[in-house]
Amino acid sequence: MKHHVEVLLTEEQVDARISEIGAQISRDYEGKEVHLVCVLKGGTFFTCELAKRISVPVSLDFMSVSSYGSDTKSSGVVRIVKDLDEPLRGKDVIVVEDIVDSGRTLSYLLEMLKDRGPASLKLCTLLDKPERRVTDVKVDYTGFRVPDEFLVGYGLDYDQKHRNLPYIGKVVFDKQEDGKE
Ligand code: IMP
Ligand code: MG
Repeated sequence: MKHHVEVLLTEEQVDARISEIGAQISRDYEGKEVHLVCVLKGGTFFTCELAKRISVPVSLDFMSVSSYGSDTKSSGVVRIVKDLDEPLRGKDVIVVEDIVDSGRTLSYLLEMLKDRGPASLKLCTLLDKPERRVTDVKVDYTGFRVPDEFLVGYGLDYDQKHRNLPYIGKVVFDKQEDGKE
């Protein structure tokens, strides 16, 4: 659908907030190592920027899950497209996500990862849409609470586009000349 993108959070705002979260994680995990589990593809940009700002030793792994549903809504049925390369047993794990919306994807994922025996398991998300939550997901580190709009940039896509925008934008659908959206 024809649309344009309006800036919601500037690159400077996002970068500053990621630095704060990186500093917080570095304090919370002092004397330990953190194992970041990036949820592909949306979590990649945030994971890289966050990892650079954590001062304790960091290891990284990647996982890809697909949630059956339409382009803009998840169904809660989650399929593992790419599993982690490394076991989680005994590790201090932080799952890094782009956005928690209904929370369905994350509640499924966290339950599954918990069964793999990590020493600890936390969740860090760049964006949180609390109004939309339908499951009970505890978010340990949140970048920004955002309104119920469709957002893109910094890893988030609309139809696989706009992931590379260095800011968080809001998708605005343009009215067509015949009046149809
Ligand atoms: P949930 O299972 O409803 O929490 O959906 C989480 C996933 O839906 C995220 O990891 C995103 O991939 C996608 N998603 C939810 N809201 C948005 C949005 O505003 N823009 C882009 N993707 C979104
Ligand atoms: Mg995602």
